[in-house]
Amino acid sequence: MTSYLVAPADRVAGELAVPGDKSISHRAVMFGALAEGRTHVSGFLEGEDCLATMRAVGNLGVSVQRPAAGEVIVEGVGLRGLRAPDVTLDMGNAGTAMRLSMGLLCAQPFDSTLIGDESLMRRPMERAAKPLRAMGAQIETLEGRPPVRIKGGAQLRGIRYEMPVASAQVKSAILLAGLYAEGETTVIEPAVTRDHTERMLQSFGCQVRARDGVVSLLAPKSLRATRIRVPGDISSAAFFLVAACLGARAPFTIREVGVNPTRTGILEMLALMGADLRLVNHRSYGMEPVADIEVRPAQLHGARIPERLVPLAIDEFPALFVAAACAEGETLVTGAAELRVKESDRIAAMARGLGVLGVAHDVLTDGLRIRGGQRFSGGTIDSRGDHRIAMAFAVASLWATGPIEILDTANVATSFPGFAELANSVGLQIEVRG
Ligand code: S3P
Repeated sequence: MTSYLVAPADRVAGELAVPGDKSISHRAVMFGALAEGRTHVSGFLEGEDCLATMRAVGNLGVSVQRPAAGEVIVEGVGLRGLRAPDVTLDMGNAGTAMRLSMGLLCAQPFDSTLIGDESLMRRPMERAAKPLRAMGAQIETLEGRPPVRIKGGAQLRGIRYEMPVASAQVKSAILLAGLYAEGETTVIEPAVTRDHTERMLQSFGCQVRARDGVVSLLAPKSLRATRIRVPGDISSAAFFLVAACLGARAPFTIREVGVNPTRTGILEMLALMGADLRLVNHRSYGMEPVADIEVRPAQLHGARIPERLVPLAIDEFPALFVAAACAEGETLVTGAAELRVKESDRIAAMARGLGVLGVAHDVLTDGLRIRGGQRFSGGTIDSRGDHRIAMAFAVASLWATGPIEILDTANVATSFPGFAELANSVGLQIEVRG
């Protein structure tokens, strides 16, 4: 089992760029597969999650090439050109790959079965299966979890679906099925979630109407291949935003970060805690806004995190909880029960780790209350195979007085290959073992 041994560090300095956005990379390959013609993707995240999507698309008869690092060429087969897979589709650790594929595959003329690793096999799939069934899909889960068995040949019809949980994966699964449905497909979100599907479908020539949390589309005749440039992943940048808040003595810059407003909750949350963050050099990669983020030294203090920010930063809470552990005073996060059904139960995993370090906290059903500001000890923390838990506690080394050992770190490669090397290049001291 691989682990990190992280020595206490007292500063970070320099600048860096993080790997490509995971959500956008998944979608680029999937939508490219359904388009007519050749889609070029640059800045693609070569993490295990997106590679799982790429393999799945390959198993559906689509040629996908990787001519150079971060470059992907997808030879689209058109909306009706996918072939029956002759294997069970293994989505690894990737919830996005599985849930989006459910939407896509329930509209195909062939059967398919989706599985994943130990973590993914425990995650809830009915949230996507249920609305897809309402569209006419034939999908079975095993007591709500994978394997997901999909029977082909269903005739889908559009629905108007009010999502009970704010989930971009569920929204996207429904919209993907909507590409094949008769009549209009509409999803109503209880809170704004990331809108990469809506934006990227437009880049592929499909009209999507999105206003005030109501997203609709009509099945297009075809999707048109395009070029996608993937910005850096703000969810990966989050670890360095927090690291810089804790350890920068001079402005620290993270270049080329996707700053789609449905993803920037972490910037608002850190600003509420006193961070000095500035977005500079604004530009767009296709439909996605991009900027460089400058972090200047500032003393963090605790804050009450507004619940409206939770879906806009859903993957950033492990990093945010570490910031809260170092911030003076109390931070309160509520309305974040979704954290319990991520790659691990992130409320439980973070609470356990903070406990090991001696950080005072209370566990809530839907969040955490953290009393921070005191330097903490080192200790041994189980990441539970969750990439973001592992990276968050590596950043905690900037506030620790002793080494932090982090167990089960191999899954960092799902979203952030090269994390330890990049972190060490700006001042962290992570020894990768095993
Ligand atoms: C994602 C949506 C979010 C997020 C995940 C990626 C996406 O999941 O946590 O990492 O790409 O649509 P939910 O839809 O379950 O909130």
